[in-house]
Parts: sequence; C-alpha cells; structure tokens
Amino acid sequence: MLRRNALLLVSLISAVAVACSDGTDPNTGNDGGAGGGGNAGSAGTAGNAGSATAGAAGSAGTNATGGTAGTTGGTAGATGGTGGTEYAPYPVVPYPPENQATEDKEMLGKILFWEEQMSSDDTMACGTCHRASAGGSDPRASQSGAIHPGPDGMLGTADDRRGAQGIKRCTDNGTTVTYKSDPVFGTNRQVTGRKPPTYLDAMFNRDNFWDGRARSQFIDPDTGQVAIAEGGALESQSVGPPLADAEMACEGRTWPAIHAKLTAAQPLALAHDIPADMKQFIAKYPTYPAMFEAVYGTQEINTKRIAFAIATHERRLTSNQTPWDRWNAGDASAMTEAQVRGFELFMTTGRCNLCHAPPLFSDVLAQGGTDIEFHNLGFLQEDPNFDNGREKVTGNATDRFKVKTPTLRNVGLREAGGLLHTGAGTGANLEAVMAAYKNIPFPNSPNIDPVVGGPGGPSDPLQITGDDIADIIDFMRNALTDPRVKSEQFPFDRPKLGSEP
Ligand code: HEC
Ligand code: HEC
Repeated sequence: MLRRNALLLVSLISAVAVACSDGTDPNTGNDGGAGGGGNAGSAGTAGNAGSATAGAAGSAGTNATGGTAGTTGGTAGATGGTGGTEYAPYPVVPYPPENQATEDKEMLGKILFWEEQMSSDDTMACGTCHRASAGGSDPRASQSGAIHPGPDGMLGTADDRRGAQGIKRCTDNGTTVTYKSDPVFGTNRQVTGRKPPTYLDAMFNRDNFWDGRARSQFIDPDTGQVAIAEGGALESQSVGPPLADAEMACEGRTWPAIHAKLTAAQPLALAHDIPADMKQFIAKYPTYPAMFEAVYGTQEINTKRIAFAIATHERRLTSNQTPWDRWNAGDASAMTEAQVRGFELFMTTGRCNLCHAPPLFSDVLAQGGTDIEFHNLGFLQEDPNFDNGREKVTGNATDRFKVKTPTLRNVGLREAGGLLHTGAGTGANLEAVMAAYKNIPFPNSPNIDPVVGGPGGPSDPLQITGDDIADIIDFMRNALTDPRVKSEQFPFDRPKLGSEP
C-alpha cells in the first residue's frame, strides 16, 4: 500500500507543508520542502532503476520548488514497498512581480477570454478553443471539421490530425471582413496543426505551447520592452492568437486595430448566459475603457494590459480538487481500489512518474533552468518540415520532435477530442496512448527519450499487463478530474458564446 498514516508525525517534524517519508522506516518522515533534496535523491537510489532517475529529478526540482524534491523522493520509497508516501499538495501559484493580481484584473481577464470581439470577424474567443468541460482543450476537436491534413497536406489520409477550428481565411480593410479561399481549407474554418493543450494549470509551465515558444520572459509587443523578466509565459502566450491568421485574425491584423475595436465594443455583446458576477462588473463598467481605468488607473487599452489581465484570470484556474488531491490529503475513500492500484503502477513499473510527476502530473516544475520537460516519445513518424517540435525554438537538432509534457489533470475530459499534440492515431484515446507506451512505435526516432519503453529502453516493451493498463487508465480518466472543471463551476464558470445555442 502506498498510503501511510504518519501525517501527524510529519507535521510534528516539520511545519513546512510537504510531507514525505523515505519509505524504509515509518519514523524517518523527512520534509522534502525544507531542503530535503538530498534525502529525496538517496531515497531514489534505494528504489529500482526508474526510481533512481526519479531521485535525480527530485534534486533538480529543489531549484524550482521546494515541494517537488520530497515528492519524487517519496515515490522511490514507495517502490521499496515497505512504506508509503505523501505527495506534495497542489503547488502555490506563482505570480510575476510585474503582474500582481487584483479582483478587478481577474474579472477583466475573464471577460476578455470569452470576448468573441477579440477576433477579426467576431466568431472566435480564446474560450472558443479552450473550455473547462473539455479539460481546457477544444470540445469541437471531435467534430468532422476539426481535421488537419497533417504532413502530407492531404485530408483523408493516415497522418491526419485533430486540431482546433479557427477563423476562416480573410482580409480586413478596417471596416469590412472579406473571406477568401484557403489553399487547404477552402472557405471552411482553418484548423490548427496541433491539438490545443489545456490552459488550466498552465501557470506552472516555464514556457507555453507544445514547443515552449511562448517564453517565460514577456516582451510587450507594443514597445518591444521586457514587461516581465521571468514567469510571464502566460502573458507571452496570450498575445499570439489575436494576431494569428489561422486562429482569431484576418491576414495582416495589428494590435492598434484590436485596441480600437475594443474601445468601441460593448463588452460580451455576443455572449449569453453570463454569470452574475461578470454581469455586475459589466453593469458597473459598461465599456472597455471604463474597465481598463478601474483596473489600471487610466482608460488606455494597450497590449500589455490585455495580456496581464488574461494571464491573471488564467492563474486563478487551479484544478486542485481531483479525487487524487482528496486522497493525497488523507481521504482514503476518494479513489477506488483500482484507481489506487493504477496510481501505484503509474509511479512504479509504468514509469509514468518519470515525466508526469505528482502533484501536477507533469515535469514542468522539476526543471532548474534546463529543458527537461521536452521529450520525443517515438509515437509517430514525424516530418521535420511539418513539425519539428522544440527544435523550432532552440534551433538545436537534438531537440527535434520534442514536445512538452502536458499535465494529466483533467485528461479524461480531453479524451473525446483526441490526446497528445496530434489528437489522432496514437493520441486517439487513452487506450491508444497506453498501447503506444507499452510498445513504442518508432523506437529509433531521433532524440527519443531513453526512459520510454521498458527497463531495456525504447525497444523494450513496458512490463505491464492488460489489467495494469486498465487500472492506469481508470486512474487517469477518473481520478484526475476536478468536478468543478467538468461542470464548469466557479472559478471555471463562463458565459455561453454567441456560437453556442
Ligand atoms: C483557434 C483556436 C485557439 C484560440 C482562439 C486560442 N487558442 Fe490557445 N491554443 C490553441 C492551440 C492549437 C494551442 C497549441 C499551439 C502550439 O502548441 O503550437 C494553444 C495553446 C494555448 C496555451 C498553452 C498551454 C500549454 O500548456 O502550453 C494557452 C495558455 C492558451 N492556448 C491560451 C489561450 C488564450 C489566452 C487565448 C486567447 C487570447 C487562446 N488560447 C486562443 C488553440 C487556440
Ligand atoms: C519521457 C517522458 C514521459 C514518460 C515516461 C511518460 N510520458 Fe506521457 N507524455 C509525455 C509527453 C512529452 C507527452 C506529449 C506527447 C505528444 O503530444 O506527442 C505526453 C502525453 C501523455 C498523455 C496525453 C495527455 C494529453 O493531455 O493529451 C497521456 C495520457 C500520457 N502522456 C500518459 C502517460 C502514462 C500513462 C505514462 C506511463 C505509462 C507516461 N505518460 C509516460 C512525456 C512522458
């Protein structure tokens, strides 16, 4: 059993939040949070081969956050089989000093996130492609219009992918939007070549997007100045889609055009079923200039202010009430026996924790300035001319085909639209993903991560049975879903879009 009952003991030993036993002796609960990195590392060595790596990752984690080291070390202890583990709780959200939160700023960000007038033709908000009930991804990704032709450029072939439907190709002369034919999608909505990852829990990502091109350092597009030195990846990300001509923009759109449009717009004029608190805010500040004045002191609408508000909204979206979180906080009944078993396998022979480490079920926290969160899993025959992954950002051939480890929180809600950055094939659903992890389809893919596959490496099948896979899937599909995310309750509540019934 993975659980242990030394919670009280640990809280006596350390007042710092993270509790972690090394697993060999119930009396040696050590605190991964308070400089426990060393302990975590040695606990790792005591485990199996996989856990040794986990121990190393634990030490790296100390640089980024105190909690991670203890967590990973605890895993190794569990592998030893004699003890149990407490994992670090959901981390505290980091705010960049340049962009501190206020309630009004959060509210403005939420309104802008659901504002279809942010797009050139009033049909696309951020929330068109990102919804809580779809696990932070796009619920429309399962629709027939959400197919991207993939590397061969032809629809209806095996390398097709599932992405997000964006704007139809268009031009805009300032007063009228004119649609034109796109070489691939004609007059239909264009589709992104990658499936949207979740925007929930993304505030912990050092860099955003699958390839990390939305960087921690946020440059204000209006001035070219550094607006956030570090920790601004959400801000960096948010300034992409409004100008992207496959997502929200007609060709050649500029920020001044967006500022002018918002100045004249009636906030959320196209939305309906607007939550009461948003409605009240709009009643109090009926125009965007009034809202920007309330938040920033003057009526000026500029790109930095837009980005700061949207990112502040996103930093509030912490999906930290999953069954796993309750179980980890001491409620043994929060997960079923099968899910607990699935979690144990996930942390041991499944080797999933080597990248999807709790509590975020990702490796974005354990980074210490290096790129450890980007990996090539060898899941598909990727074409470098179509998508070379992290290489596009770093220019290093050693980063070819690497993408960021996504959090697995709410992954069960993302499944319907397809998983991974492809949304299809090996990413069709959790069964397809597990089949690929068990027998890596392309073990000779360049830069494949050496930890995938079984103990013998990528060509070696993972040592898990069909029953094991079923339990791991049950754990991921059901025990990592926050019920408030699924039912879109506060803070995940939202207006309905004009495009929705
Ligand atoms: C047309 C659909 C679409 C729209 C509109 C859209 N996004 Fe996305 N979003 C995507 C896709 C696709 C990706 C992944 C792109 C990539 O990795 O290259 C993404 C990635 C992200 C990420 C990164 C998450 C991570 O883990 O890396 C965040 C955050 C996000 N979007 C927020 C937003 C915000 C804020 C807006 C509005 C300003 C927005 N999106 C508008 C489709 C969309
Ligand atoms: C070497 C690091 C690594 C290991 C080990 C690993 N993963 Fe992943 N995982 C990733 C990366 C990177 C992605 C994104 C890959 C892509 O989009 O092509 C991913 C994606 C996923 C997804 C899709 C999530 C989504 O939102 O689309 C699931 C589910 C998943 N992994 C489960 C697992 C399980 C279960 C295991 C253990 C059997 C495991 N992973 C082992 C790095 C890893």
